[in-house]
This record gives sequence, structure tokens and C-alpha cells, in this order.
Amino acid sequence: KTATDYVVTDDETIKGIFKPRSDFAHKGSHGKAIIVAGSYGKIGAAVLATQAAMKTGAGLTLTIAPNCGYEILQTTCPEAMFISGGENFIKEIEIQKDSVYGIGPGLGTDLQTEKALLDFLKHSQNPVLLDADALNLISRNQDIISLIPKNSVITPHPKEFERLFGKTEDSFQRLELARIKAKELKIHIVLKDHHTQIITPEGKVFYNITGNSGLAKGGSGDVLTGIITSLLAQQYSAKNACILGVWLHGKAADFSAEKFSKEAMLPSNVIDELGNVFLLLN
Ligand code: APR
Ligand code: MG
Repeated sequence: KTATDYVVTDDETIKGIFKPRSDFAHKGSHGKAIIVAGSYGKIGAAVLATQAAMKTGAGLTLTIAPNCGYEILQTTCPEAMFISGGENFIKEIEIQKDSVYGIGPGLGTDLQTEKALLDFLKHSQNPVLLDADALNLISRNQDIISLIPKNSVITPHPKEFERLFGKTEDSFQRLELARIKAKELKIHIVLKDHHTQIITPEGKVFYNITGNSGLAKGGSGDVLTGIITSLLAQQYSAKNACILGVWLHGKAADFSAEKFSKEAMLPSNVIDELGNVFLLLN
């Protein structure tokens, strides 16, 4: 363990990672992001993740959600396609080639949703992003953990991390356990917190310093899921998608706080501010 295993993400690093859109881009060259999210009463999670994926630049965005969210999603996200995965919660996750999946926001924890996730992970070889209830389902059925494809991304908040990997004394111990698990499972762990830490499969840690407590509201995590899934679809490496995605999310939140205050800013404002963050990078 050396000092170089722990790095703070600075603006120069971000400029080095960010890839401006080519003049010759077409929707096929910017990837397909598939968001698997929502259940009755939590369709908003699917809306936020879908809008965030679109506003981060994916060529195509598709949402797999239960049918009770059909009209809501087609109205609030007209640019995204919709596939039904069940009636009031997800029972089936269609597998499409050449797509990147972000699975979890607002899914609920029905047994049929657990089975759908298990089937999906058994049949898909590509790296995926797993968040929220996808992680809670995995915590309940630890057999699923070994099915997570190598180089995937998980985005637990501290409670979700604890459910997955067990209790730790403090945030330092939690980080060290995350390094062990990231290496063991060969995945990227985005440990969400005030200063979110990204842990690579090599055990390297990147601290993010954008973002503020205006993000401490339901729905902020769903936005991050959309952002990182979109970057993965656009062929950023998993490591760069995590580093850039967490930074973008925090920067858009800082712009939102300046405009609306930490109290009044909402996750949907954070999505809207992504445009100003990209203007800064371009
Ligand atoms: N400072 C900076 N960033 C913060 C702060 C803070 N004080 N508080 C929260 N954040 C950021 C986190 O780093 C993370 O990116 O806001 C986001 C919160 O994500 P989640 O904890 O996943 O919150 P949420 O969007 O409400 O999740 C929705 O899914 O994870 C489940 O149980 C969760 O019901 C909840 C739902
Ligand atoms: Mg969450």
C-alpha cells in the first residue's frame, strides 16, 4: 500500500479523460444505454436515471421498467425507448447485444425481480452497473455476487455497502474492505459519500471532491446511475466512466446549489445543469 494508491481527482485529470464529441458522430457511435429501473410508486427513479443517461450523451437510451410506468416514461422521456419488464415490478430483463446496462434504481425487492436479475447476470457477459435495489437483491442472495461480470461497476451508499460486505467500524475500515472486495471480485466500487471514493480492481482509490449536501435527497443516486451508464455506453473505460461520472454529478450539483441553494435544489436540477458542466469541459 503506497501513497500513490490514493489520489484526489483534479480538473486536469478530468480534462484528460473527457472526450469531446466528434463532428462525425452518429447515434450508433455513441452507444446504447439501457436503464433497468422502477416499480409501482418508484417510477421516478427510472425517469431520473433515464434523463441523466440521455443528458450525458448516449446515442440511444432505452428504459426497461414495469408497464405501470409506460405513460410516465414516454411523456417525461420522449427521446428514450421503452420496454416493459412486468406489470408493477420487473419480472424479466431482455438482453440486447452491444448495450450497456444500468440496473437497480427503484426496482423493489420482489422475489421475481431477484430471479430476473439472476437470469440476466447468468446470460450477460458484458460489464454492467449495479445500484440500489439490484445491490439489495444481491445482498439477500449472496450466490449472485460471483455472477457479477468482471470489470463491472457497483455504486453502493454506505448502508448498501454494509448489506453487501458486512459492518465496518468507520469509513477508513470501510474503504479498506472495499479495496479487498474490488480486487477479489475484479470490479469497480463507487463508494458514495460526502467525498465519494472510486476503487478500481487493482485497489487504487480515487477521491472525488465535487458535490455538496444538496445531494442528500432521494433521487440523487439514481441520477449518478444514469450518468455512469451513459459514459460506459460511450466506450469510456469503467475506471474513467466512474471517475468522470462522479465528478460530473458533483459539479452539476455545485452549479445547482449556486442557482437554487442546497436546500431547494433537486436531483432533476442536477440533470439540467449537466449541460453547463459539459460547456465548461468543451
Ligand atoms: N455531500 C456530497 N454528496 C452527497 C452528500 C453530501 N453530504 N449526500 C449525498 N451525496 C451524494 C452521494 O455521494 C451519492 O452520489 O448523493 C448521492 C446519493 O445517492 P443514494 O444514497 O443512492 O441516494 P438516493 O438517490 O436517494 O437513492 C435512491 O435507492 O439507494 C437506494 O435506499 C436508497 O431509497 C434510496 C434510493
Ligand atoms: Mg440510491
